[in-house]
Amino acid sequence: MTMQFPENFRFGVASSAYQIEGATGEAGRGESIWDRFCREPGRVERGENGDVACDHYHRYVEDLDLMALLGLKLYRFSIAWPRLLPDGKGKPNQAGIDFYRRLSEGLLERDIAPLPTLYHWDLPQALQDEGGWLNRDTAARFAEYAVVAYEALGDLVDTWLTHNEPWVVAYEGYGWGSKAPGERNWRSAFIAAHHVLLSHGLAVRAFREERGWKGEIGIALNLMPAYPLNGTADDFAAAHLADGFHNRWFLDPVLRGGYPVDMVAEITHRFGPLDGIRPGDLETIAEPIDFLGVNYYSSDRVYADPDEPLLGVSAAKPSGETTSMGWEVTPRALYDLLLRLRRDYGEIPVVITENGAAFDDDPPVNGYVDDPRRLAYLRSHLEEVAHAIADGVDVRGYCAWSLLDNFEWERGYSKRFGIVYVDYETLRRIPKASALWYRELIAANSNSNGKGA
Ligand code: FCB
Repeated sequence: MTMQFPENFRFGVASSAYQIEGATGEAGRGESIWDRFCREPGRVERGENGDVACDHYHRYVEDLDLMALLGLKLYRFSIAWPRLLPDGKGKPNQAGIDFYRRLSEGLLERDIAPLPTLYHWDLPQALQDEGGWLNRDTAARFAEYAVVAYEALGDLVDTWLTHNEPWVVAYEGYGWGSKAPGERNWRSAFIAAHHVLLSHGLAVRAFREERGWKGEIGIALNLMPAYPLNGTADDFAAAHLADGFHNRWFLDPVLRGGYPVDMVAEITHRFGPLDGIRPGDLETIAEPIDFLGVNYYSSDRVYADPDEPLLGVSAAKPSGETTSMGWEVTPRALYDLLLRLRRDYGEIPVVITENGAAFDDDPPVNGYVDDPRRLAYLRSHLEEVAHAIADGVDVRGYCAWSLLDNFEWERGYSKRFGIVYVDYETLRRIPKASALWYRELIAANSNSNGKGA
């Protein structure tokens, strides 16, 4: 299959602050919930943490040069809230502002568009001490922080994302407890989800109303298609339920102004009343966005399973290739997802804000890292993006997750998602074969004015 992309299509990479920056105790940065979580025994594999990570805070110029070398046109990074506001609120920390200004200026000098995400999970610990996302005030604090960021970078940045994956913040942070702050209470998870969504709406509203910053704003949702394993009514119902829990619970309030009615009934029935939703909240959450960020990794085939405690739905064992996360490689589901978004939610422009794969790469040999499976993963998914564009979906850009191997949350440094290898002893960066392939794809597309690679 040849790949054709529109002329202005932006190829990029994505990263996040806690996963790459390090320098957690420097330049006035406050403590985040991930600093705290990593220090609790048993939370992160081998007790690892983001204290050093890829040391991007000190090596960002080298990383900018690397991005330029690869010909990237878009860089999605996240702003560490505790760097800008060490206590989560109050007076901004100038050193934090300066860092993201230098980074953004460096991107623009290299003709790479900055795409900051305001929240990629590193809540200031001071706000966690006041209840974190269970406290409705956190949504207001987030909107204030957003305004600090718009003020600080608004002359350099014209595309913003509010949140990364509210699903993870709420379900993994408060339901399963596998990520910070590590609570295990599903009723709390839905309160947290609501407050995160509310904070998104407040930040979008502030972007539009306060001082008229120019540009576009969206949110990055992790979407996971669920297909029925068998053609039975029970499995179709299971797939609809899984889709409601994973996808519609976040898509519907943001894009349609309401929680899905079937899921309200399900969640209330399974977890108790939905607390914390006040009149007017859903209008706020549905404040119009300019584009939807889609993080896509895999899909599931699901079946009705009365023994599964959460929803009565289980995922079948993968039948094809899996990544080292155990996620099945299912590129076609990305095409289906993109068409489904247009069908169900209308003509909203889409940016693929994350897509990629962890594999256990062989260590470098003579400065070369061969990663054929990651290369094939990226190629097959980009083909499906091109396919969806050809079939009329307005996809504006694609960010591979991730530029660098980095701190993969509770999995620590064991999972390598980078198209660039990081030697954690020396912190040397070595582009993998997938990065070199990506560079060629980008070059072919820019030279031939979108005629394809
Ligand atoms: C996503 C996260 C990102 C990274 C990838 C593998 O859910 O947004 O930080 O961990 O998964």
